[in-house]
Amino acid sequence: MTLKIGLIGCSRVAKNKIIPAVHFSDFISINAVGSRTNSKAKQYSKEIGCKTYGNYEDVIASDIDCVYISLPDGLHEKWAIKAAEAGLHILCEKSSTTSYESAKNIINACKLYNTRILECFSFRFHPQHKKVLQLIEKNELGKIYNFIGNFGYPKPDNENIRLKKELGGGILNDACCYPICASRIIFNEEPIGVMSNLIMDPIVDIDISASVFLMYKDKNAYAESGFDRNFKSNYEVWGSKGNIMLNRAYAVPNNFETQIYFTKNDNTETIKIDAVDQTFLMLKTFYEEIFKFKKSSFNFEEDLLKQAKILEAARLSSKKKKIIYLDEID
Ligand SMILES: NC(=O)c1ccc[n+]([C@@H]2O[C@H](COP(=O)([O-])OP(=O)(O)OC[C@H]3O[C@@H](n4cnc5c(N)ncnc54)[C@H](OP(=O)(O)O)[C@@H]3O)[C@@H](O)[C@H]2O)c1
Repeated sequence: MTLKIGLIGCSRVAKNKIIPAVHFSDFISINAVGSRTNSKAKQYSKEIGCKTYGNYEDVIASDIDCVYISLPDGLHEKWAIKAAEAGLHILCEKSSTTSYESAKNIINACKLYNTRILECFSFRFHPQHKKVLQLIEKNELGKIYNFIGNFGYPKPDNENIRLKKELGGGILNDACCYPICASRIIFNEEPIGVMSNLIMDPIVDIDISASVFLMYKDKNAYAESGFDRNFKSNYEVWGSKGNIMLNRAYAVPNNFETQIYFTKNDNTETIKIDAVDQTFLMLKTFYEEIFKFKKSSFNFEEDLLKQAKILEAARLSSKKKKIIYLDEID
C-alpha cells in the first residue's frame, strides 16, 4: 500500500527534506505538485518524475491520499481546511497555525471530514530524544527540575516568508515553537502557565527574539530563540543527580551522528546516536497511523491543539506583560 502525497507549495523544505525522504521510501510517493506558478510546478514535477502538476486546487482535486502543506504559516489554515473538505489527510508544516482559533478551525474540519493531520515537527522522531527519555526513566538524572532549549540562527534575507507579518512570520512561530514542543515531550506533560517576552522588529513588525518561560506542575522550562543569532539548536535537561545536553536537537542533517552529553558526578559521558533521516521517520509514522498498521505514540490532533494553545499563551503574555495560565484560553 502506497501513501500518495500532493505537494501544496514548491518550497525549500519540500525540496530539501520531503522529496529526498519520499525517494528513500518504497511506500510513499509524490503524485501531484502544486504551485502558484505553473512553470515552477512543472519544473518541480519534472525533477521528481511526477506527471501531475498545477495549482493548489488542482493538487487537492487529484488522485492522492494526503497533502503536504509547506506554505507560509499564515496560509496553513486555509489550505488545510480545503484539503480536509476534500477528504484528504494532511501533513502540515510547523507552526501549523498562527492562532489557537485557527488551530481549532483546522481540527474541527478534520473531525468533520474524518481526516487526520500531523504538524511536521520532524525533530521529535529522531531517536536521540527516546534515549534521553530512557535515561530519565531509569532515574539517571534524579529529580528533573529544568529544561532549557535554544533555537536561533542568522537573520533571513528581507524577502524571506519568516520576516513577513502578513504571512505569519516571526521567530515564535518559526523557531521558538521547537524548544517549547521539546519541553513537552521531555517532561511528558503540559505546562500550566506561560510568561514570555517577544521583541518586535520596528520595521517589519514581527517578533525577532522570543524568550518563553513555561511553568509546569513541579518543574520549569525556558525556550529562547532569535533571528540574528549565532546558530544554536540545543537543549539541556537538569536534574538533581545529573544533566543532559544535546547540541543538535531540532535541525539535524541526515548524515549527522548526534551526541548526547550526559554529566554525572563531574564525569561527562558522550552517547553517540547514529545518523538518521528524521523526516523519513516522521513520514513512516504518519503512513503507519493513516493506514492503521501501527499506532503513533501520541495523538496528532491533540498535540497540534496543545502546542497551538501554548503559542497563543506566549503571544498574549508578551502583549499583556503577565503570566497567562493555559486554562484561561479556550
Ligand atoms: N520542518 C522543518 O524542518 C522545516 C524547515 C523549514 C521550514 N519549515 C516550514 O515550512 C514552511 C515553508 O518554509 P520554507 O522555508 O520552505 O519556505 P519557502 O521556501 O519560502 O516556501 C514557501 C512556499 O509557499 C508558497 N507560497 C504561497 N504563497 C506565498 C507567498 N505569498 N509568499 C511566498 N511564498 C508563498 C511558495 O510556493 P509556490 O510558489 O510554489 O506556490 C513558496 O515556495 C513554513 O511553514 C516553515 O515554518 C519547516
